Amino acid sequence: MKKTVKDIDVKDKKVLVRADYNVPLDADGNITNDKRITATIPTLEYLLEQNAAIILMAHLGRPKGKVVPSMSLKAVPQRLSELLDKPVQFAESDCIGAKAKKAAADLKGGEILLLENLRFHPEEEGKNANGEKDKAAMDAFAKELASMGDVFVQDAFGTVHRAHASTAGIVKYVKDAAAGFLVEKELKFLGEALDKPVKPFVAILGGAKVSDKINVIENLLTKVDAIIIGGAMAYTFLKSQEVPIGTSLVEDDKLDLADEILKKAKERKVDFLLPIDHIAVDKVDFANKQIPQGAIVQTTIDDVIPEGFMGVDVGPKSIEKFAEVLKNAKTIVWNGPLGIFEIDQFSKGTIEIAKIIAESTENGAISVVGGGDSVSAVKKAGVDKEISHISTGGGASLEFLEGKELPGIAALPNKK
Ligand code: 3PG
Repeated sequence: MKKTVKDIDVKDKKVLVRADYNVPLDADGNITNDKRITATIPTLEYLLEQNAAIILMAHLGRPKGKVVPSMSLKAVPQRLSELLDKPVQFAESDCIGAKAKKAAADLKGGEILLLENLRFHPEEEGKNANGEKDKAAMDAFAKELASMGDVFVQDAFGTVHRAHASTAGIVKYVKDAAAGFLVEKELKFLGEALDKPVKPFVAILGGAKVSDKINVIENLLTKVDAIIIGGAMAYTFLKSQEVPIGTSLVEDDKLDLADEILKKAKERKVDFLLPIDHIAVDKVDFANKQIPQGAIVQTTIDDVIPEGFMGVDVGPKSIEKFAEVLKNAKTIVWNGPLGIFEIDQFSKGTIEIAKIIAESTENGAISVVGGGDSVSAVKKAGVDKEISHISTGGGASLEFLEGKELPGIAALPNKK
């Protein structure tokens, strides 16, 4: 068990907090979804109660070690200030250097300072100014950041799968370190689902590619009672069993792998559910995310997709079949959409699954949802309050489900 913020002395201390403020911005730089900001409020409020001076570190986008003005964190302090009902200072232009250091040194108990985007420095991601891998440069940068505070709190769950200066490197340069409440909550829900799930345990995996989810599937096969597969990766599984899939997206180089997974599932007596019918269309405008005029949309009668058509969502019989399994589940993990969720007409399967998971949760199941589209789906279905836990980390939650060690967690000290 990792130390959490309540296990370390933060009273009257300068506390460096890594937060995931990688929030979406519109063309004018306004925040369009503040979920990641609100998710850090419990830790920040606790630290303020302890009269800590809070130095927040975060990144936005992938500026690749260069200053990219459109990736500034400048919109965040105002939103944070509204949420906390107190001023939040911003160390603009640079997260290290004399100005940032002075702002951090002058910070008093109960005050908050946000540093500018860490990724404006290549060292954050372990590179030097020439873009080469450079551990010494990363360490020096981590030390610079650490010098601004006494202790470190990791609350950026969405970024703990990155071995960066501010997520892992910094820990050895501070007096003490711990997980914040958000990271603690993520680890509790994801960890308990994987390590001691109440059975039956059902995983639903969607998305385009088998290759993106292969490690998750392999890891979950040792833990779950059933796996439900949707999205384009279902067509690779179906084709591996010689089911005609028309012009559906498919990874032809993964057909053997898909077949092997199905065999493994059988050996392990894991119920592996593929769609038994589909919504299929003869053409889709992927670039503009719309159905072209004159396109023919049909619901297939079984799992066969007619020639000239591509699968774009699971059909009604599949939803019914999946619902049967989900109704009895006591632990549910969901990652990835079941169809082309961005096109309203093809989002039904994903939305219905969100509603079914919410119902099962009301009936006592623990449900954990991760991944951008699945999270949007539970919101769009209006059931986000019903889900036990919605993860703030897309990539991080996926790597957790793969059973991988997360560098930002591994670096934290264990509880005594
Ligand atoms: C995310 O948005 O998933 C996190 O902030 C991590 O961002 P990254 O994938 O650019 O490291």
